[in-house]
Amino acid sequence: MPTLAVYPGSFDPLTNGHVDIITRGARLFDRIIIAILINAEKTPLFTKAERVEIACEVFKHVPNVEVDTFDGLLVDYVEKRKAQVIVRGLRAVSDFEFEFQMALMNQRLNGKIETVFMMPAEQYTYTSSRLIKEVFRLGGRVHGLVPDMVEERLRTKIAARTPA
Ligand code: PNS
Repeated sequence: MPTLAVYPGSFDPLTNGHVDIITRGARLFDRIIIAILINAEKTPLFTKAERVEIACEVFKHVPNVEVDTFDGLLVDYVEKRKAQVIVRGLRAVSDFEFEFQMALMNQRLNGKIETVFMMPAEQYTYTSSRLIKEVFRLGGRVHGLVPDMVEERLRTKIAARTPA
């Protein structure tokens, strides 16, 4: 049976750390779905449509990577998609506690779904969407840490928000 994996997250925005994990996942699993969380309680910098567009564009040449959105419980989405695996990236020990809690909660909610942790390449171990947005907003360089398309869109967004 082909192994279908779900890589869930906010992806606000997609970073090269995410890209690295997805690329590794695409080599390991028959198919990997980038599942973008639509959280009605949060106002993301990038809209749902933008986040989908960016992921589709970045992975348009990788046939076994799919892009989708979800809301509600992750395990319900994974079950609905008939996937067997949740992929999460682990960058540092600081990620571990939250990831451990989520994995065990998801295991309790649905014991048939396994969480698999993958490490990104070393140069992305300090990259996070939150830091990228903060550094960029304050005029720092994020080149090489996000896809070029994300860097361009960050520039447009931040310029639109900054008063003249
Ligand atoms: O990119 P993020 O913010 O680290 O991703 C977190 C995500 C989307 C994996 C997590 O918030 C999630 O699974 N949300 C869906 C709601 C849910 O199932 N919550 C219980 C998790 S134990």
